[in-house]
Amino acid sequence: MSRRRKTRAPAGTGLRHVVSINDLDNAELETIFVRAEDLLKKLGGKDDKHAIRKSTDIAQGRILASIFFEPSTRTRLSFESAMIRLGGSVITSADPATSSAAKGESLADTVRVASNYSDIIVLRHPRDGAARYAAEFADVPVINAGDGGHEHPTQTLCDVFTLRRDRKTLKGMNVAISGDLRGSRTIHSFVYALARLKANLLLMPAKGMELPAHVDARLREEFDLTLAPRDMHDASVDALYVTAKEPHQLALYSEAQIRQSAEPALNRVDAVYVTRFQKERWKGGAQDYPKIDRKFLDAPKFRDARVMHPLPRVEELDIDLDADHRAAYFRQAAYGVPVRMALIALLLGLDDRIHLTRYPAGFKDGVDPLYRRPGDTGLRCANPNCIVHDPHEGQRTENKFNVIMRGGAPVLRCFYCETDIRDFVFASKHRKRIFGEAVPASLLPEHIADLIAFTSAGEALEAGFHPAQPLPGRPRKKASG
Ligand code: NCD
Repeated sequence: MSRRRKTRAPAGTGLRHVVSINDLDNAELETIFVRAEDLLKKLGGKDDKHAIRKSTDIAQGRILASIFFEPSTRTRLSFESAMIRLGGSVITSADPATSSAAKGESLADTVRVASNYSDIIVLRHPRDGAARYAAEFADVPVINAGDGGHEHPTQTLCDVFTLRRDRKTLKGMNVAISGDLRGSRTIHSFVYALARLKANLLLMPAKGMELPAHVDARLREEFDLTLAPRDMHDASVDALYVTAKEPHQLALYSEAQIRQSAEPALNRVDAVYVTRFQKERWKGGAQDYPKIDRKFLDAPKFRDARVMHPLPRVEELDIDLDADHRAAYFRQAAYGVPVRMALIALLLGLDDRIHLTRYPAGFKDGVDPLYRRPGDTGLRCANPNCIVHDPHEGQRTENKFNVIMRGGAPVLRCFYCETDIRDFVFASKHRKRIFGEAVPASLLPEHIADLIAFTSAGEALEAGFHPAQPLPGRPRKKASG
């Protein structure tokens, strides 16, 4: 937790946006869950303890704008229901074909305009990083309702709320995740939250659909997860991440111990989270996509497992399970209303008792130094689906990266889509000299404005920079490229 960063608010506004699940710290997550519980108790119907049936008026006079550039049923309807249940109103642009996007309007302009018509914006967009980008142009809080394959933080709020309702704590819980781990934005937000809340992750990706490399790297490097031996589980489990520095540290068991162990923690799965093949994010079709059905769940270790799914489901989750006591997916969807009510109330400061800290202007604490690509020169985000490559945004997009130090070497993380770039060289703009791999950590914060990143030393040489020289007192390292 200590190394996680909160999003820097746009200079001068102090606004809070929820783009990534990591924009909310653990205490804020807990605040949202407690408030959602409270709303369920107060406003839930007597006949159905999982749904909000009554309304309040705390958001009277406030307007939520839902702007959806991708299909949605649950997320949009539950956000809109949540705002109306809070006593507020909703304006919607849910069909890009009937909005000015069809005329070529940029997302930046759409958001600027919608800021004048509303108090809070909920945005879904096909580009990774679109929500962070939109937040830069908005004068009101922006909530990410799914940005490409990047994140879907409010789905994670519903998912964790569901688990937490049943078991009180996620600590030590074994959560298996099946399907398209690469393309599913819901999974990316979910695994960060699980790691932060000290659950163990069992990954069951469809073939070729493992977690993106940068998500996997963050789990290990920022959230202190370690990978347990592969054959700790049967063949259907591809990897098990376990929370480190905990007394139940499974990674310390030998494989033989694990096989012989009678310890329930090693043989129990508390939840199986199933995801659809994200066909809109892949070129081809899926082969041998895993299907979760009664037969799969027959194994004793799944006896008490909650079966979860963000929905919509297609073929990957058997409808036979709907009547099974372990099925949690319709509850997960129902909780979308109280959880999103709690989040909206928090972001709009509607509740006297609970507050989000408003970041002061120029908030800096814990924020990594930011590298801005100067003009048209040097490295761009490596993710082709990142918002910075969207032709509609034209000159407005800027390639920006947080500089993260990993074992003494800098990593560039796209400010918008959070894809990491590990292979690049830094050079000094002022001295026209390539630093190669030899950029010391101490150089970064003070000299960041002088740095320019290239994909390789060769590219830097072509741009008129001089070859790398050893830094004083450091052994010469080979410049790559
Ligand atoms: C998810 C999404 O849009 O990412 N749906 C949702 O919001 N519940 C999952 C999906 O589409 O598969």
